[in-house]
Formats: sequence, structure tokens, C-alpha cells
Amino acid sequence: MIYLDNHASTRCDPRVIEAMMPWLSEHYGNPHSGSHAFGRQAAEGVDAAAHDLSKMLGVEPESIVFTSGATESNNLAIRGVCLHPRQKRRHIVTVTTEHPAVLDVFSELENDGFRVTHVPVLRNGDPNAGVVDLNQLAEAVDDDTALVSIMWANNEIGAIAPISEIADICHERGALLHSDATQAVGRIPVDAKAADVDLLSATAHKFYGPKGSGILVVGNSNRRVRLKPQVTGGGQQNGLRSGTVNPAGAVGIAAALQLCVVEMEQAHPKTLRLRKQLFDSLAAGIEGLQINGPELESEHRLAGNLNMILPSIEGAAWISATPEVAFSSGSACSSVESKPSHVLTAIGNDESQARRSVRFGVGRFNTTDEIEQASTLLTRSYREVAQLG
Ligand SMILES: Cc1ncc(COP(=O)(O)O)c(C=O)c1O
Repeated sequence: MIYLDNHASTRCDPRVIEAMMPWLSEHYGNPHSGSHAFGRQAAEGVDAAAHDLSKMLGVEPESIVFTSGATESNNLAIRGVCLHPRQKRRHIVTVTTEHPAVLDVFSELENDGFRVTHVPVLRNGDPNAGVVDLNQLAEAVDDDTALVSIMWANNEIGAIAPISEIADICHERGALLHSDATQAVGRIPVDAKAADVDLLSATAHKFYGPKGSGILVVGNSNRRVRLKPQVTGGGQQNGLRSGTVNPAGAVGIAAALQLCVVEMEQAHPKTLRLRKQLFDSLAAGIEGLQINGPELESEHRLAGNLNMILPSIEGAAWISATPEVAFSSGSACSSVESKPSHVLTAIGNDESQARRSVRFGVGRFNTTDEIEQASTLLTRSYREVAQLG
């Protein structure tokens, strides 16, 4: 089995597992039990993780809130800002291609009376298709906008947002910027202070860490961010997110990001090379493949992302016919739904094109041999399915 679905999740790196193990087996105290050494030791692990994460993301350690993943982080950021008792503004802005963990929260807030604007992205034909349209964004943000939520990198087509320019547009009107950086953190440099992002969501399982461990960065010291907590109880994490912090998860997410940061310079060209190998060998065997999203050479595209439209068969049929290779049609996060991907239609594809699309995510553990084998298997199965049809 060849794993090429690294946007859905990644294999936890054995070095991350090793770093986590003592926090499951030996240091098992509750990090919030300050009255004994077991608790204090666990707290030290959590604090060290927050410190390391904050350094890598350009913020203060107090800005790091540990969560169960990016879905929870997005909920806390968006609902937290909008529902804070001192929030007077009633307008919120997002982009049509966001993850459901953002879009669904916006829909609920709309039902609660917030005015919502969905800004479109550049469409097929533009070298940066899938990137938010900055002119339309500037028109959408007004003096009543409380929050703008824009992902740093898209999970389906790998489009990378010009996040600093976006931050300027938001702050000019006094709005806060939240970025779901789930697909960006660990893959490209992410500095919340330098980019001036006020709230940032990330999750370890997208960068070779454990599932169920995420963070929300709250504030970058440039301006005040007030959040209404969404999970209440024991008042942990300064009351922002009650519940016992998971020390192994905290250590795991910090260790995972550390490895990505240290190895990014070598990893990036290797990932680019493997994606090129994958696309070139598939294109050599299957005529008429079309890229979804920014051009492969664009600096606005994640190195490992390949999303393309097949000329004659549906993505789901190709996936079923190639059980030896793990890849996906549309977004894995919404694969329970049979609707065509909202991201692919937002860039201008019709329903048939969206259904004929597939996504590959090349990652750290892939090799040249694997890509060669996968391409051979995929080309063969494509031809079989296409002949049947
Ligand atoms: C862009 C984006 N946001 C949010 C999520 C949800 O992350 P999690 O699985 O940690 O809740 C995902 C992944 O599925 C994602 O790709």
C-alpha cells in the first residue's frame, strides 16, 4: 500500500512517538495538580511544549491554547471572538473555499444574526486559481467587521494565501484576522507575528504528529484579542479552554513541529521533486490531465499537493480500482458527503469536472520508488476503468 494522502493525515513520525512515550508511561500526573511533584512535572512538559511552539510561531508562550485539533481551534477562535460579551461588531468575513470547520461555524453565526460575507477566489485560468481575490476582500471588510477567517493554505488544492496582505486589509478596518493554518504549519514557514495574524489554528496530525492534538494561537501581542470560552469547566488554560491538557499530545505537537522546522529546507525540494515525478509519469500515461488550483510551479501552491481533473472517469471510480494506492477525491474531511467539492466548484469547475477530480498529497515518508510504482498502478487502473466506460 502506498500512502499518498498526506493532506488528510500523516504518519506520526517515530521520533515524535519516542518524545511522547515518557509522558504516557512515567510522567502521568495531572498537569493542573500543582500540589505534588507528579503534577508539577507534567506541567513542566506542557509549559516547555508551549514555549517551543511559541518560539517557532513567533508569539508569546501565553498565546498557545492546547485543543483537540483544528476543528476545535476554529470553533474557539470564531465563536470566541463573535460571542464575547464586549463584541459590538456584527459582520464576519470568510472565503468560499474554507474547510467545513470554518464554514459551518459561520453558517450557525449567520443564523444567530451575524451578517456574513463569503469572498470568492481567483478562478481557473488564473495562474493562482484558488487564491482569495484581494480586491473583493478589501471591498467586503468594513467598520462593522469583527473577524475575517481565511485559511493559510487550502487542504484540497494547496493554494497558499498572501496572508500579510490580508492582515493589512483586515487591520485597516479594525477587524481581527483568524487563519486556519492547518495545512500550512510544518509545510511552509509560518510566523503569526511577522504575518500579523491574530488567531491561528493548527493540528499535529497534518505534520507527522499525533491525532487529537491541536493548538489555537490567541494574539500576537500587536493587539488585544478577547475570546468567550467555548468549553467551560475547571478553568484550565486561563479559563479559555477548560479540561485537563494532554501532556503527551502537547509534547507531541511541539516535537513534530520542531522536526518540520529543522528539516524544512531539505524536505521542500524533495517534496517538489516527488510531486513532479508523480505528475509527469501520470501525464505520460494519461492524456488530457488538467491541474486544479495554482500552477504547479506557483509559489502560491503547497509543494506536495497535486489535484487534477481526469479526462474521462470519475475520481471515486479510479480510487476503487486502485486499492494499492491511498489518495482521495475532493476532501477527505467531507468524504461522507456525496456532493461535489465546494472548493473545486468555487474555482469554476462544473459538477462533472469536480467529480472527475482527485487529490494526491506527497509527504515526508514517500520515496522515488513508491512514486514510480504508484504511477504504474494508477496508469494501468485508469486505462482499465476508462475502457469499461
Ligand atoms: C484546512 C483544515 N482545517 C481543519 C481541519 C480539521 O482538523 P482536525 O482533524 O484536527 O479537527 C482540516 C483537516 O481535516 C483541514 O485540512
